[in-house]
Amino acid sequence: MEIIRTVAELKAKLDGAREKGSIGLVPTMGALHAGHLSLIQRARKENDIVVVSVFVNPTQFNNPNDLATYPRTEEADTAMLREAGVDYAFIPSVEEIYPEPDTRQFDLGPVAEVMEGAMRPGHFNGVAQIVSKLFDFTRPNRAYFGEKDFQQIAVIRRMAELEGFDIEIVDCPIKREDDGLAMSSRNVRLTPEQREVAPVIHRTLEGSLSWATDHTVEQTKRYVIDEINSFPFMQVEYYEIVDALTMQPITDWNDTDSAVGCVTVFCGDVRLIDNIKYPKRK
Ligand code: PAF
Repeated sequence: MEIIRTVAELKAKLDGAREKGSIGLVPTMGALHAGHLSLIQRARKENDIVVVSVFVNPTQFNNPNDLATYPRTEEADTAMLREAGVDYAFIPSVEEIYPEPDTRQFDLGPVAEVMEGAMRPGHFNGVAQIVSKLFDFTRPNRAYFGEKDFQQIAVIRRMAELEGFDIEIVDCPIKREDDGLAMSSRNVRLTPEQREVAPVIHRTLEGSLSWATDHTVEQTKRYVIDEINSFPFMQVEYYEIVDALTMQPITDWNDTDSAVGCVTVFCGDVRLIDNIKYPKRK
């Protein structure tokens, strides 16, 4: 595996490699865990060349404390990437990616206006900025993203459409710890007591599947919020049940064929997100 720090070097390497076969890109912010590994393994299986970027992108953080405390574990990350058979690890500095401020504003539309878009102003524009740069530098055939950030995938699809990128966006299922907690780089910031309580998020979402069969959308939202909030450290920021394509909240189960419940919960000061798909109504 080669570690690449500059855009010029990345482009030069991939220009040479492109004729030899397909390129799979896995964008990450590092602090890699088994969830990332599952994306990398899939990329490895489906492409001749695998590029993983490791870059904590400042423009997508609307909270300076979140950016400052985001875990950075480059040595462990590169060991994991080497072990996983990655060809190129792209690990640039902030100055390399943003030699000057990126002032682009993407017209991301309604998919970016709700949930994370409403709670974290500017977040998705920052995601669009970095992912469009990575797409441009790498020009991959496929790019891999985890479904834990369900709304992010819809936003990236929209950005790719706006920018005319002919790249297959591959969404990959959430990887979970044995107790159900969705794997996240932020989990390492949980205290042992918080870590013990955190699986209640997934447990409650799963419980809501049967609850939903004889309750309304509104009642199901209430159930999830009240249940999670009844545990110590836990404070739900939002729970929305949305159409899986448009990300628009539904009010009736028959409003969509594919409903997804998306939750954000503060466990202490660690912001955790998760989601669940509700089966189609007969
Ligand atoms: O999901 C993430 O880790 C980030 O938002 C991404 C896609 C790597 C862009 O910085």
